[in-house]
Amino acid sequence: MPIYLLHLASTHADFHIPELETLAKIECVHYRWIKPSCVRQSLDLQEPSVAHSQSEKPVYPINHTNATTLNPFLLVELEDDLSAARWIRRSIFCKGIYELYGFSETFDSLHDYLSKLPSPPWLAYQKKTSYKFTFETFGTRRTMEEQLSIINDFGYMGLEGLVSMKHPECIFTLLENRSKDIEGPKMYFGRWCGGSSRDAIDKFDLKRRNYIGITSFDAELSLITAQMAMAMPGKLVYDPFAGTGSFLYTCSYFGAFTMGSDIDGRQMRGKGRKSIRSNFTQYQLANSFVDVFTGDVTNCPLRQNFLVDAIVCDPPYGVRAGAKKIAKSSSGSSSPSQSTSDSTSTSHYPKLEQYQISDMVFDLICFAAMHLVDYGRLVLWLPTITEEYSIEDIPRHPCLSLIFNSVQPFTHWSRRLLTFERLPRSETNHVPSEVFEKSLKTPSHHDFRKKYFMGARRTASPFI
Ligand SMILES: C[S@@+](CC[C@H](N)C(=O)[O-])C[C@H]1O[C@@H](n2cnc3c(N)ncnc32)[C@H](O)[C@@H]1O
Repeated sequence: MPIYLLHLASTHADFHIPELETLAKIECVHYRWIKPSCVRQSLDLQEPSVAHSQSEKPVYPINHTNATTLNPFLLVELEDDLSAARWIRRSIFCKGIYELYGFSETFDSLHDYLSKLPSPPWLAYQKKTSYKFTFETFGTRRTMEEQLSIINDFGYMGLEGLVSMKHPECIFTLLENRSKDIEGPKMYFGRWCGGSSRDAIDKFDLKRRNYIGITSFDAELSLITAQMAMAMPGKLVYDPFAGTGSFLYTCSYFGAFTMGSDIDGRQMRGKGRKSIRSNFTQYQLANSFVDVFTGDVTNCPLRQNFLVDAIVCDPPYGVRAGAKKIAKSSSGSSSPSQSTSDSTSTSHYPKLEQYQISDMVFDLICFAAMHLVDYGRLVLWLPTITEEYSIEDIPRHPCLSLIFNSVQPFTHWSRRLLTFERLPRSETNHVPSEVFEKSLKTPSHHDFRKKYFMGARRTASPFI
């Protein structure tokens, strides 16, 4: 199988592999990760050239303090160009994919290798194909003069087609990594096979959104939330903490029908002509918007057998949006007798009480276990206190399996994107719901608001 090169974004590195694995599942693409050290450079990369099979996940250098990658290039074996293009066409963190022609430490050794290939892979494009050369650099910049002189050094390729800067049939790309302390290849050369959906980050930029609020979620990470939920045509995705609807737009962008709810109806209704609905119109996605309703996730009016393909959510941390739930009456039910309205009014406003985020997360996973289809996904953002976090903080449920756990670090706290998959009911029907109890350990997100502000005071400069 030919070898391809993935060019990834340098930020949010911890999310890259989960995204690629999810996309491979969505697009039914079979791939095998390759380490550069396993490719025999002396042979044509088109021939079986991988010395040892390496299919485990790549551990590519990541600066974990800010989850940036020091090496945005990954090698992978794929069936053909079509699989390569299909794999990354809806990716947010991949910038492009290339058929790999060669890689090396220096320009000289790269040219030496390419010019001696017995059957150069560009032969098919040598005679009549229009083409251009492009550069992708990381940790360096190349002036136009430098780029031209580097292109001229590829004269041995013997390309006879027309150069077309606007609509070339073939794009040859040199990708260079000059970041410090990086081991392995510094430059790669290949043929562009497909682009991604990274421009959607711009489309959903909050600065351009008609209606936003203080809880609106960053565009890039809203898109990755939709990605992990496997939002796609024919699927129904639900956000029970919809707020201003950030995840609904991105899930609909990937083709899913979306619905949401929130305990606070004002967030969803917006003001005047600005609301979740007006945003759907702005994005020309109104046809995939089901609706929103006001409701407490702990007293959700959805029928027990109402199933959705995915649940996406950013529960309140108590910092910007408070966690609340409908208070129970003395009889134990959330009863209208708690109403603050007088007896002549037809409106009923139940009393609300404070809700610990740790309790909310526990209730949420029970809710997901009930309302997700088999293999459906719960995609949940969980705040954690960096120093206190341990894997035991991750909520567990016998019907849900944790498949990805990616971190976005801040100063003293982090946000984790947890992706769970609903196990098939045929395997979990014997598990009685009563056996599921909260972990005895208090998780680090317990009392998050208090710890968040204590930590902020500790890390703040004394001069502020
Ligand atoms: C962090 S915000 C979500 C923001 C949302 N992703 C957006 O794009 O604006 C959390 C939301 O949860 C809502 N909320 C708090 N407690 C709730 C509950 N018990 N049931 C449903 N929603 C709740 C809050 O009103 C708030 O809008």
